[in-house]
Amino acid sequence: MHSSPNNAIGVFDSGVGGLTVVRALMERLPFENIIYFGDTARVPYGVKSVETIRHFTAQITQFLLQKEVKLLIIACNTMAAVAAQVVRDLSSVPVLDVIEAGALGAIDVTRRKQVGVIGTPTTINSNAYARAIHQHATNIRVYSQACALFVPLVEEGWLDHEVTRLTAQEYLRPLLAQHIDTLVLGCTHYPLLIPLLQDTVGPDVRLVDSAETMAQQTAALLEQMGLANPQRLVPEYHFYVTDVPLRFQAIGERFMGRALPNVHVVKW
Ligand code: DGL
Repeated sequence: MHSSPNNAIGVFDSGVGGLTVVRALMERLPFENIIYFGDTARVPYGVKSVETIRHFTAQITQFLLQKEVKLLIIACNTMAAVAAQVVRDLSSVPVLDVIEAGALGAIDVTRRKQVGVIGTPTTINSNAYARAIHQHATNIRVYSQACALFVPLVEEGWLDHEVTRLTAQEYLRPLLAQHIDTLVLGCTHYPLLIPLLQDTVGPDVRLVDSAETMAQQTAALLEQMGLANPQRLVPEYHFYVTDVPLRFQAIGERFMGRALPNVHVVKW
């Protein structure tokens, strides 16, 4: 299929967390139209089986392809960890995923080749980050830690709360014992915890925000494929969700840093 540079970028996630990627894209690529899909009715994915996640991911991919997006971005680390191949098999347009972006970001910044990765239980169990890192650099040691409680804490808005601080200390202790010099934030929700996590790991450990590296990678790919939108108009943003849960607007704004326009509910 031939994509037009004027078509939108399709970004998807299990819920609102992928808005951290949308936010980074809007800042880095201010003239690109974006269609976002968040499966808010079925979130969280991070504790679901691989089979279920693959099934949901295929549905979302087909939805966005029907919207004629020019590029697909898997913003959800959990989907990227266990269902990236499903998306690539279905897609006629290029596909980028946050795990590849985060892995390249880590390789770029690590000095002593000791990298920690945090994510949902499904992401960590899949070992996808270590595989992605080792595909490019075999000399890096990767230490992983599942942090199941971070997603609910972020959605609760406890970004600078004593409970979150203690939870972070507990989760990160084993990684710090390995003297990591880099920590990959392998989940859509974790960029909101950057100040607290940086305090916990100390100034010598560099945090890799995969939303940020994803925006850089997207800009490079669009340029390279001649797919960057040449129009200098105010872009259109559309947000498709499968449910409008309680406090949706407030949570969405926390992730986006601004109001959410054009929210559409998809009924399957
Ligand atoms: N979006 C998921 C991720 O990045 C976190 C939320 C969930 O578990 O669905 O892993």
